[in-house]
Amino acid sequence: MTVINYGQLKPGLIPLWTGEGDLPTPSFIHKAATKGLEDGETFYTWQRGIPELRQALSDYHKRIYSKDIPAERFFVTGSGMQAIQIAVQAIAGKDDEVIVPSPIWPNISAALGIMGAKPVHVPFDFSQNGWSLDLDKIESAISSKTKAIFVNSPGNPTGWMADRDTLRKILDIARKHGLWIIADEVYSRYVYEGDRAPSYYDVADDDDRILYVNTFSKNWAMTGWRVGWISAPTEIGNVLENLIQYSTSGVAAFMQRGCVEALLHGEEFLHSQRQKAMQSRDILAGALMSTGRVQCAIPQGAFYLYFTVEGFADTMKLALQLVDEANVGLAPGGTFGPGGANFLRACFLRDAVEITTAAERLVNWFDRQ
Ligand SMILES: Cc1ncc(COP(=O)(O)O)c(C=O)c1O
Repeated sequence: MTVINYGQLKPGLIPLWTGEGDLPTPSFIHKAATKGLEDGETFYTWQRGIPELRQALSDYHKRIYSKDIPAERFFVTGSGMQAIQIAVQAIAGKDDEVIVPSPIWPNISAALGIMGAKPVHVPFDFSQNGWSLDLDKIESAISSKTKAIFVNSPGNPTGWMADRDTLRKILDIARKHGLWIIADEVYSRYVYEGDRAPSYYDVADDDDRILYVNTFSKNWAMTGWRVGWISAPTEIGNVLENLIQYSTSGVAAFMQRGCVEALLHGEEFLHSQRQKAMQSRDILAGALMSTGRVQCAIPQGAFYLYFTVEGFADTMKLALQLVDEANVGLAPGGTFGPGGANFLRACFLRDAVEITTAAERLVNWFDRQ
């Protein structure tokens, strides 16, 4: 039984367990999708994505990453999850290995498992100053079966954010050993200083073997739409197109119209979401730290607080108890792989008033123990 299944029908519960905020998609985005429907965009569509969306992606990357990436190098997918799955399918098969720093969003390891490939988890080091990755451990984990290194920065659930130097060093390792990098940059715009996180676009050459996976879900409150994208070197384009064709055969054209609008006019919404996340992060972290029993690193990116509570090693049991007795839904840390078992994850991309209530409920509960 998952904690969500256990608690999702509980009246008044504040759900901080999934990776999404409290707002629906802004109307300027869904109006464009509705218009596409009304215009009769209900036929089979381009496998790689409609030309307008691929061009909008190219323009967005020019604006945000100062990179000229031609529209041909973008592939629209049915979610960030499917972007990961297709990236994995393209480069790893049975018995291959992919290095995955952990704790990590569990679907990544599962996508590898489905292909018969194996995630080789390299644990992050945790201290109150933050999560850090020992690159020697990454290099020592490479074997003759290794095909890729998975880099999720800013990271879910830890909030770890690689600086450019770290990204470059991982790239050097990948180049030296002839490996791919899957760069999961879905939280790239959720940073609490500056406008975006350091990216592989900052350090890599066009022909480096990097598959960037991304999504519309997080930046523009579109988790239910299931649309994402990959950007990839030209050499692998036909493989990705075929994998899309043999899975979904493309994302509904009318939904892609909404995505174009998100890219063209979505900055203001994204900035307000980020502002809200920062305020809520500080409220939640401040309240939990004030108990003196919570250990966490204040995340510089993404929108999760990943924390331990002194005296509670079994966080699955704790999360169920918090549903029953505090009416707050948190994700137990063991879900996120090796190194995560003692942690709980709270998504704070919610209104400050609700986060304040959630924080009060948690603090009161801890005080009673
Ligand atoms: C690290 C990471 N990558 C990819 C995704 C995929 O997002 P989606 O499938 O909603 O597009 C998520 C979602 O939580 C995530 O946390």
